[in-house]
Amino acid sequence: MAVHKTPIAVFISGRGSNMNALIEACARPDYPARIALVLSNNPDAPGLDTARNAGLEAVAINHRLFPKDREGHEKAIEACLEKAGIEVICLAGYMRVLTPYLVGRWAGRMLNIHPSLLPAYPGLDTHERALAAGDTRHGCTVHLVTDGVDEGPILGQAEVPVLPGDTPSALAARVLEQEHRLYPEALAAFLRAR
Ligand code: GRF
Repeated sequence: MAVHKTPIAVFISGRGSNMNALIEACARPDYPARIALVLSNNPDAPGLDTARNAGLEAVAINHRLFPKDREGHEKAIEACLEKAGIEVICLAGYMRVLTPYLVGRWAGRMLNIHPSLLPAYPGLDTHERALAAGDTRHGCTVHLVTDGVDEGPILGQAEVPVLPGDTPSALAARVLEQEHRLYPEALAAFLRAR
């Protein structure tokens, strides 16, 4: 029997390599999601082209057109999500903090990937901070989005070692490889458990 594919939206702001990992996973017939929309706040995000080249609907809603009106921006996003019949949102390198308006509407149905072993290092510069602290292990987390930044119930984590001589970019690359494995896996487990 064909698997039910939940229509998801992927939110990006930049290169979209995690989105690409989700595109590849969704291409598998037995994967329980299909990407019905890619959305970016940044019209110049390279990931928009990647999505369009994969034949996906990819829309930019430029936050700069909504000065000092985060909720107005999110209302425009919400209209787009409704039109596309979205059931679950995956934030994948989406660099805008969302307001309680959108977070509240999507409570329990919005996932994020973060490049640290949460609760360690919410926010930016996670690889620099892990190195500065002398950590011997680091990694990434997929979690449900709640009002607090990079908080919310953890759905999955992947660890990597911190190696002698690591630079932030070497460490970031090691973590990113795990992100690309973890996000599709955690999303599938989340959808199958729904
Ligand atoms: C990833 O490290 C993700 O965890 C973080 O931002 C980065 C986005 O990379 N939130 P990409 O756009 O998916 O390549």
